[in-house]
Amino acid sequence: PTLLVLFGGRSGEHSVSCVSAGSVLDNLDRERFDVVAVGITEDGQWLAVGDDTTPWRLHGRELPRVTAAAGDPVALLPDPTRRELISLADGRRGETVATVDVVFPVLHGPAGEDGEIQGLLETAGIPYVGAGVCASAASMDKVVTKRILRDAGLATGDAVALDRTAADLDPADRERLGLPVFVKPSRAGSSVGISRVTAWEDVPAAVAFARESDPKVLVEAGIAGREVECGVLQFPDGRVEASVPAEIRLTGDAGWYDFDTKYLDDTCELDVPAKLDDALAEAVRDAAVRVFRTMDCAGLARVDFFVTEDGRVLVNELNTMPGFTATSLYPRMWATTGVDYPALLTTLVETALA
Ligand code: DAL
Ligand code: MG
Repeated sequence: PTLLVLFGGRSGEHSVSCVSAGSVLDNLDRERFDVVAVGITEDGQWLAVGDDTTPWRLHGRELPRVTAAAGDPVALLPDPTRRELISLADGRRGETVATVDVVFPVLHGPAGEDGEIQGLLETAGIPYVGAGVCASAASMDKVVTKRILRDAGLATGDAVALDRTAADLDPADRERLGLPVFVKPSRAGSSVGISRVTAWEDVPAAVAFARESDPKVLVEAGIAGREVECGVLQFPDGRVEASVPAEIRLTGDAGWYDFDTKYLDDTCELDVPAKLDDALAEAVRDAAVRVFRTMDCAGLARVDFFVTEDGRVLVNELNTMPGFTATSLYPRMWATTGVDYPALLTTLVETALA
């Protein structure tokens, strides 16, 4: 089958998506799939990029981007009877570049992981890896996610959703949440737009910063607990399984798992598997599958938790297209569970086609 890999996009996680896609493109089974890679610029232009994945690696602290020079412009026809990627290049306009059987949207954050692209692919009648429109949109939005999970009886941390005009917390909310708090855009990822706030007078600036990413903002109570993640994978026969959990232990000064800690600095240690006792590991895996089913996900998700000292397992959030970079936990957790990176990718694509 012809597999279209989409990456980049109009998102604060554009560069992370490029790095994820570089790893995915390097690890796909080329005997099984004819791969076509399309990078989406930060303006939303689709470009057929070549086979070289060097531009999509991290080079020191420099973040890769899809620029207009990366390849020839292409477009996907929103016609389910055609399933075609066509050229928009001068002199070739309208020529078929590929007939697409399945899409792997290696896109993180808004405009890629939030149902937008999924809606386009539904319209085009092409199967794709990962969650559908509603699950993608709901899982991208931290306020919506919390409401759905709580409704299903899953424990999450305490939080306050600020309406689009509110610039600060009410005294009653301050009282309830306590310091520190995390101020977050409701729909973003990779810690983009997030501040850890340790003094109440700093909340309005943190809210304004979060609003640069999303007018919807939430304020979460800081949770004293271990940061544990778990991968969920759906197999072509429909089975849904959880990976071994992993733990993130911070060793730097940031004090939380921010963007630089995630991708740029060598200031965290990742325990794969997490050193949890069997019962706690099982509780995490069980909760991860419950979150996947509650949100009506498909294909894959990485569910992020806090595990408190008294053994409570709180859902922090989920990612319907988790990071796939060489240091990302999702592929590492599955490798430790017995599904190596190439086999993981094949499973994901076969599940999309099933
Ligand atoms: N949002 C990033 C890519 C992650 O969750 O891994
Ligand atoms: Mg995230």
